[in-house]
Amino acid sequence: MPTEREEFRLTEEIRRAENIFLNTNRNFLVLGSAGTGKSFLLKRLVENARKNVQVLSFTGLAALQVGGRTIHSFFGFDLGLQKRTHLLLMGTDEQKDNRRRAFRNLEAVLIDEVSMLRADLLDAVDAVLREHGPRPGEPFGGVQVGLFGDVLQLPPIVTDDEQQAFRPRADAPSSPIWDDGWISPWFFDSFAYRTGGFLRLTLTRIFRQQTDATAGEDFVRSLQRLREGRIQPEDFDLINSRVCNQEPRQALSLVTTNRAAEEENASRFNALSGRVQVYQAARAENWPRHWRGNEPVPETVEIKKDAWVLVCANNAGPGLVNGSLGTVLRFDDEEVVLRVGSQEIPVKRYVWKFPVWRWDGKHKQMVKDGETTYSQMPLKLAWAMTVHKAQGQTVDGPMWVDLGARVWSGGQAYVALSRVRRLDQLHLRRAVRNEDVLVEKRARQFLSEGDSATALEETRALAANIYRKTKKLKDEAVQERERASQILGDAQALLANTTAKEHSLVDSIHANVERFLAEATATLRECKQVEVRIAASEKRILDALEQARNASWLKRFLGEF
Ligand SMILES: Nc1ncnc2c1ncn2[C@@H]1O[C@H](COP(=O)(O)OP(=O)(O)O)[C@@H](O)[C@H]1O
Ligand SMILES: [Mg+2]
Repeated sequence: MPTEREEFRLTEEIRRAENIFLNTNRNFLVLGSAGTGKSFLLKRLVENARKNVQVLSFTGLAALQVGGRTIHSFFGFDLGLQKRTHLLLMGTDEQKDNRRRAFRNLEAVLIDEVSMLRADLLDAVDAVLREHGPRPGEPFGGVQVGLFGDVLQLPPIVTDDEQQAFRPRADAPSSPIWDDGWISPWFFDSFAYRTGGFLRLTLTRIFRQQTDATAGEDFVRSLQRLREGRIQPEDFDLINSRVCNQEPRQALSLVTTNRAAEEENASRFNALSGRVQVYQAARAENWPRHWRGNEPVPETVEIKKDAWVLVCANNAGPGLVNGSLGTVLRFDDEEVVLRVGSQEIPVKRYVWKFPVWRWDGKHKQMVKDGETTYSQMPLKLAWAMTVHKAQGQTVDGPMWVDLGARVWSGGQAYVALSRVRRLDQLHLRRAVRNEDVLVEKRARQFLSEGDSATALEETRALAANIYRKTKKLKDEAVQERERASQILGDAQALLANTTAKEHSLVDSIHANVERFLAEATATLRECKQVEVRIAASEKRILDALEQARNASWLKRFLGEF
């Protein structure tokens, strides 16, 4: 995992994203392959922001990576499908008040790893902010939203129960009436995305892997083809040259399922010599029965010296957050001392507190009925991690990848292999096969429609701006012309009705009128020139629109090959 600060390199693409975030209020989407620095850019935007910005992500580990919180915890959402009822703020009265205040003062929200962000969740974010944001009623309540991610990495997870909410339909539009569901679980098929006017930007330069050394170049090219589903025999050769039959020492393991992660952790734990320390959880008496088994850490936590562990609570020890990784140095009944980076940090038992809710039949509503607690050493074994958890991470040491019997999700093999910086850090338990190369159709479609939509969008914004200015000038010219002809008419009427002795007076008026006319004519001439320039701009805009349209056609065409 990256810890030390690296020097930030600016590219034109990064500058463009910075400009949109820092100088406009537009919503935007930053796309780009793994390691193009999307998260790095996000962190930099936050550092330079002069706005009140909240950083969010879908998984805890990905949030930690960019110094943010999970969407669920920030908004107080339940897990599972987000329905309209969730518009009601969840939590205790105090939590609700705090949330309302936080939402009212928000100016920007940046969300990382959006490939896993489901449409219903983004719509829920939109709905809550429309109600509680600084400008109620507007998209995202007037909060600027920046999304970061790669749609060719892991797609959102949909359970069997939730499947029916996401159905492809011919009549397409996602509806603000949520009961209608969504045409796909992808965030870009949410109502919020479709109406949010997101500008699309793509980062193309890869930073995670070295691209200058020859080996690095080949690795990056093979990863790219794996990502896009255009993998060639020589890519398989290169990647599968890393198959080895033994897990290297001190390697982080990537696996495809939670169960495989548990098994791998157990086997690494058993291989450690030394004494086992067991910590038993304590539940309050009113701990709901149906929460058993879904607790933040298991009922029994076993620790040995040198075990790799993940901290599962905030403030469990000085400087630790939910998601910190460390190695066990020593322990006793009360505490476990971890080495995290170069520091030694003691971790004590942690007490999780949750409100208890009861149905009040008389008032027909849920009411808070006290609190319940769960106490345990907030640690989990962390040698192995699922690919889903690892998305967004850079692995700096050796990495052991076990793709199991089969890859079961779009982008899974690509996400797994693209975590390391160099090919020689990669160790494969089995060869990558053709059937492991899964690319989501809907994501590919979105990308192929993609950049041309941004080009069109930007050209349109420019055109609208020029049009407004032109219209103002034209209106002014017309007014000027009307005024001039009215004065001329008045002057002629005056001349026709004057006697000789009034002539001198009329002459002087006439001279003034002539001068005014000359000025008006000059203005008109200028207006004419402006009109010519406008016509030329209009033509340029039409050409650009045409080009953008051709580009999208060409992309789709190329995409089919
Ligand atoms: N602008 C940059 N300048 C220098 N190094 C960068 C830059 N962006 C990314 N990196 C390097 O690449 C690694 C991966 O970047 P990251 O932001 O995690 O990529 P992504 O989020 O696109 O997958 C970082 O840890 C850092 O080492
Ligand atoms: Mg990232």
